[in-house]
Amino acid sequence: MTNVGLSKIAVIGAGNIGGTLAQRLAEADVAAEVVLFDIVEGLPQGKALDIQESAPVLGFSTRVRGSTRLDEAVEGSDLVILTAGLARKPGMSRSDLLGRNAQIVKGHAEMIREKAPNAVVMVVTNPVDVMAYFVWKATGFPRERIIAESGTLDSARFRWFVAEALGVTPRDVVGFTLGTHGDTMVPVLSHCSVNGVPVTKLLPPEKLRAIVERTKKGGGEIVDLLKTGSAYYAPSAAQLEMALSIARNEHRLLSCSVLLNGEFGFKDIFLSVPIVLGRHGFTKVHEIELTAEERSALEASAKAVSEDLKLLAMMPL
Ligand code: APR
Repeated sequence: MTNVGLSKIAVIGAGNIGGTLAQRLAEADVAAEVVLFDIVEGLPQGKALDIQESAPVLGFSTRVRGSTRLDEAVEGSDLVILTAGLARKPGMSRSDLLGRNAQIVKGHAEMIREKAPNAVVMVVTNPVDVMAYFVWKATGFPRERIIAESGTLDSARFRWFVAEALGVTPRDVVGFTLGTHGDTMVPVLSHCSVNGVPVTKLLPPEKLRAIVERTKKGGGEIVDLLKTGSAYYAPSAAQLEMALSIARNEHRLLSCSVLLNGEFGFKDIFLSVPIVLGRHGFTKVHEIELTAEERSALEASAKAVSEDLKLLAMMPL
C-alpha cells in the first residue's frame, strides 16, 4: 500500500469534536490542507488559527484554516467529515437529536454532492447510523464512500475497559463492537483477545458482563459527568483512526458503520461491521462468525436503527 496523503480534508462543525479532530488531523500531517467550517462567525477561524500556530512547535506542514462559507470549505475535498449538530445533554438519547440534526446535515450532504463529488464522507453527527443513511440518500454516492463512526469509538471504549480490568496495556487489547452506536450495540466478546489470548479465558463471566454493559453506556457515562455536552477526546481519536486509514490508504480492518447489502442478513441499513478501509472508502465487509447471543443482540441493534429510520421518514425535512 502506498502512503498517498490527501490534498484537502473538510471538517464540518467546529465544536468540541470538529475542533479536536482538526487538531489531530493537522498533527498527523496527512493532508496538505484541513478546512474547518461552522456557522458561528469567528469560531472556525479562531480554532484553525490557534491550531496552525502550534505547527512551528509540533512540526507539521498541514495548512489549517477556518471558514463560514460551506461551498468553498467543501469544494474539491478528498474527505469530508460531518460533525456539525447538536450533542446530547444528560437525560437525552442519541435518537432525541434525530430531526434537528437531519436538517443540519441535509444541506451539508447536498453541498458535498455538488462541490466534492468524488469525496469520501465520514459521518459523525448523531444518531450516527441514521444520519449516515440520510447522507447516503442525499448525496447519491456509492455506499463504499459513506462511512460512519460508531464501531471505532465504541471499540476503543470496550478495549480500554478490558485493559483496565486486566491491568495490561490497552495496546495489546484487540476487539470491537458491532451494530448501532447506542444502548443496543454489541461488544463482541467472542473475538476479543489480549494479543491473541481470548478474553473469555482471562476474565470471569460476571466481569465480562459488566464490561459489556459499561461499554454500551460509555457515551452516557461521559455525558452525565460533563453535564453540558458529550465526549470528544475518544471520539476524535477514533475518527482519526478512520481518517488515517483513508488518507494513507492503509486498508485497516475496522468496525465502522456502512450500508449493508445483505451482509449479516441485513439490507438497506447502516450498522457497524468489520470493514477494510482505504483511500476510496471501504473495499470489503467481513462477515465474521458470531455466537447465538451476539447474533440476536445484533438483530436488536438493527431493529433500533430501523425504528429511528422510520421516525425520520415521517419527519418533514
Ligand atoms: N452548519 C455548521 N455547523 C453547525 C450547524 C450548521 N448548520 N449547526 C450547528 N453547527 C455547529 C455548532 O455551531 C457547533 O460549533 O456544530 C457544532 C457542534 O459542536 P458541539 O456542540 O461542541 O458538539 P460536539 O460535541 O462537537 O458534537 C457534534 O457529533 O458526536 C456527535 O452527538 C454529537 O451530533 C453531535 C456532533
